[in-house]
Amino acid sequence: MADSRIDPKLIAELSEREEKRLEEATPKSHELYKRAVKHMPMGVASTYQARDPYPVYFTHGKGSKVYSVDGEEISDFHNGFGCMVQGHAHPAIVKAIRDRCELGTQFALPTEDSIIVAEHLAKNFKLPKWRFVNSGSEATMDAIRVARAFTGRETIMKIFGSYHGHHDYVMVSLGVADFGQIGPRDNYKSIPYGAGIPQASIDMTIAVPFNDAPMMEARIETLIAEGRKPACLIMEPAMMNLGVVLPEPGYLEAVREITKKHGVVLIFDEVKTGICTAPGGAVERWGVVPDMITLAKALGAGLPSGAIGGSDEVMDVVESGKVFQVGTYSGNPLSMAAARASIEQVMTPDVYKHLDYLNDRLIKECDAVAAKYQFPAYTVGIRSKGCVNFASNKVTDYESFIKYQDHELVALAWLYNINRGIIIAPGREEEWTLSVQHTDADIDRYVAAYEDLVHDVTR
Ligand SMILES: Cc1ncc(COP(=O)(O)O)c(C=O)c1O
Repeated sequence: MADSRIDPKLIAELSEREEKRLEEATPKSHELYKRAVKHMPMGVASTYQARDPYPVYFTHGKGSKVYSVDGEEISDFHNGFGCMVQGHAHPAIVKAIRDRCELGTQFALPTEDSIIVAEHLAKNFKLPKWRFVNSGSEATMDAIRVARAFTGRETIMKIFGSYHGHHDYVMVSLGVADFGQIGPRDNYKSIPYGAGIPQASIDMTIAVPFNDAPMMEARIETLIAEGRKPACLIMEPAMMNLGVVLPEPGYLEAVREITKKHGVVLIFDEVKTGICTAPGGAVERWGVVPDMITLAKALGAGLPSGAIGGSDEVMDVVESGKVFQVGTYSGNPLSMAAARASIEQVMTPDVYKHLDYLNDRLIKECDAVAAKYQFPAYTVGIRSKGCVNFASNKVTDYESFIKYQDHELVALAWLYNINRGIIIAPGREEEWTLSVQHTDADIDRYVAAYEDLVHDVTR
């Protein structure tokens, strides 16, 4: 049971009112949806863009704003699930893409920009060898294959509730409404996320709770005893799909120690934490260096891109030709030009001060609103990322997220936001991404919408 103590009847009543308000404001989106749904399931390109009864459609973005087909100017705290920390149509990124366009957009032949981006990543993330792909899913899929080839093992370990993309290896143990279904904490049952995933894949992926290093080690030891020692542990150093859940002090160090001791390849999936939390992501922030890193999202400043970093030792399976790490669009010149401009001209160390300033304001002011109305919620923030947790107890892993977070309230907050000129990532997670082009006015708007919500649910 969520611990927010907000009457579900009140939430339902407010949701109905806000849904009606949104419907009245979005007739053009509704029309587009009717057309879209004829040829696109749910009327969208990806199920993550869908919304019941229909999504809001957009035309363009500039700076911290996106513009809907219904003519609304909306402060973007969604930022393409965290891709657009640079903000929309940043002049340096636009110029880099335009200049590159004139010179040809795809060769499947190497170009200098990819070398320059790899040099930056090696310096920032402290791993020497890099390869490029086109998305986070590709990055995690290939990283896992590299780890399997390196160790000669098949089982993989992940954190329960963490998302690492949409391929079979990792669409496992992502979400569950009732923990009774998956058994005890020291022996979670592997469960598929949606249909179409082979049982063999499901069985090969073992999940453990976040922020619990002793439990992880115990599970590794059980798997060793069963003759299926994991090839790798893939994890986000800070979980970013349950709001934001930070690692407890000492946790990442312990994980590093345990994986090293047992010869399990440690993969930090920095698709969300990389770039958005520091130029060198979680590695820089917490000072723990894994064996491999996966990047995507903010790396390409809005163009499809991803990267895999690794130690010399691990990446030797690619160097030696043992693993075919390949792709027609890998190192695409447009993506590489955007990534280079982002690293060299936009995501420079001083812009993180601006992100810190804005995030601190958001956190302090949302906390002040919660205190004013004695509303059971707390904030978590790190650089461009943050969230309000609608819970009075701390969320440290998926189990406590299910137990404490009020999910109905999260859905209502999304509606309050969109009706007040703010968009954030849909779904349970309620995580914001600020961009370097956000200003005080965007923060004022967010806090005002939050106060409206808190005022109404505590009346
Ligand atoms: C941590 C993490 N890894 C991997 C992915 C998959 O990235 P993509 O959607 O680009 O395939 C995501 C996407 O949200 C993610 O959050």
